[in-house]
Amino acid sequence: MSNQTTMTAQPTSLVIFGITGDLANRKLLPSLYNLDKYQLLPDAFHVIGTTRRELTLDAVFEKLQTTLGENYDEVVFARLKARFEIVTMDMTRDEDYAHLREKLDDAEDAAGICMTRLFYLAVPAQHFIEVVNKLGNSGLQQGCRHDDQMPSRLLIEKPFGYDVASSEQLIQALEQHFTEDQLYRVDHYLAKETAQNLLTFRFRNPLFKSAWNTESIKSVMITAAESIGIEGRADFYEQTGALRDLIQSHLLQLLALVAMDEPESFTSEAIHKQKLALLQAIEPIASENVDEQAVRGQYVGYRSEVENADSFVETYAALRLTINNQRWQGVPILLRTGKAMITKVIEITVVFSDESEHTNDNALTIRLQPNEGVVLQMLVKKPGLTDDTEPVQMEFCYDRSFAANGQDTRPDAYERVLLDATRGDKTLFATGDEVRASWRIIENVIQKWQQDGQGLQLYEKESWGPDAADQLASAAHVDWLTDAMNICPVNVALPNHTPEEA
Ligand code: BG6
Repeated sequence: MSNQTTMTAQPTSLVIFGITGDLANRKLLPSLYNLDKYQLLPDAFHVIGTTRRELTLDAVFEKLQTTLGENYDEVVFARLKARFEIVTMDMTRDEDYAHLREKLDDAEDAAGICMTRLFYLAVPAQHFIEVVNKLGNSGLQQGCRHDDQMPSRLLIEKPFGYDVASSEQLIQALEQHFTEDQLYRVDHYLAKETAQNLLTFRFRNPLFKSAWNTESIKSVMITAAESIGIEGRADFYEQTGALRDLIQSHLLQLLALVAMDEPESFTSEAIHKQKLALLQAIEPIASENVDEQAVRGQYVGYRSEVENADSFVETYAALRLTINNQRWQGVPILLRTGKAMITKVIEITVVFSDESEHTNDNALTIRLQPNEGVVLQMLVKKPGLTDDTEPVQMEFCYDRSFAANGQDTRPDAYERVLLDATRGDKTLFATGDEVRASWRIIENVIQKWQQDGQGLQLYEKESWGPDAADQLASAAHVDWLTDAMNICPVNVALPNHTPEEA
């Protein structure tokens, strides 16, 4: 977290398991393209895409071309393609891992140096344990054969299990073959630019640092609404649902950053220590309180989309949590997420309040997407001859503060994920203990919700979700405050900074 850091990737052999999948095509390949475009990939950067099918490199890159759209640079595109090879492999066959190992050895021999080996599991979660075991049994976790100080790294995408028991099985398989240092559990929300700003904002600004506690804060709300539905991922979603998909991972990770105590330093270890302490201080929802503290909904039309007339999988989930420590005693924490909602918005709202009848609440909104920024709502006197007051907003908008100066370099979260994994920086990844602690918080809700559809509310597409979520908030004497239209509007008139004025 220094002011200036250099960000070039280290010499790397990146193996993407599942090169034909959605994640590879939509996120990983475009991110590699951008990293190459900004010259952040060294010459020694080799990528192996694995697939079960006979597939040519041309076919993979034709698809990438469609994803990138018209706006791509042919020189960069060709340079990236030259780094790639496709290896046909069946993830269930031991001999295919031996073949993969030969390919990695060849790439290092050709480069004349040892390269960090990164294995990216961009395959459905049901294959994780098998691939992890096969990588381990074939010795691929050891890294380059000429340097025993360069162990391989494993990047693994959520869902990290399905509940407490299955996540424990995955953790055990991982621990059997890899050390924690080798494991990079991707949570791409942590790599979103504004999420990275949370600790700087909280701990480098005395104004907020000193008021960040139960004496000043009335509530914390985190919303991740998506306007898209399940985008054809029926099988995945029917086994997952909103609680596992977004809350267990992304929203609890964001909450950890919003609520953790100040770390001793901004190193990965110190940050993870405080995040874990916070997650462990969240009171798990008790079985008998599930109805009171958790709301689930499903958008109208979901059942026909997944061709399961009886499905009670939730496409919307909201929770009310409490944190058992001094800083947060008595502060309601509300989390919500949903598909097919009125808008796409990810934001955190912290409401500041005091007992006085003469003050108004101050709402601080940290917007992660879209129109990223931080906005503080406060009360001012209206200009004029009366004493009337009105709430107004004080805004920091990325577009206004940085893009206007040509400084805006908000990379896609996956660019940061890939770069940090090559550089060995684990700050923006989840640890095994954090994953454990997160499952524990929601375990009883999972167990109860999978029994039957009792309490599941249907909601219209393009809405804010089920009414019960409003009641969940009002029972804690708060309101969901998201006003998606109002923050950092994109077409805002930019201040006229001429060089003379500056
Ligand atoms: C993924 C979920 O982790 O995050 C998806 O599996 C969801 O269901 C996606 O759509 C949202 O990511 P983003 O970056 O678009 O907010």
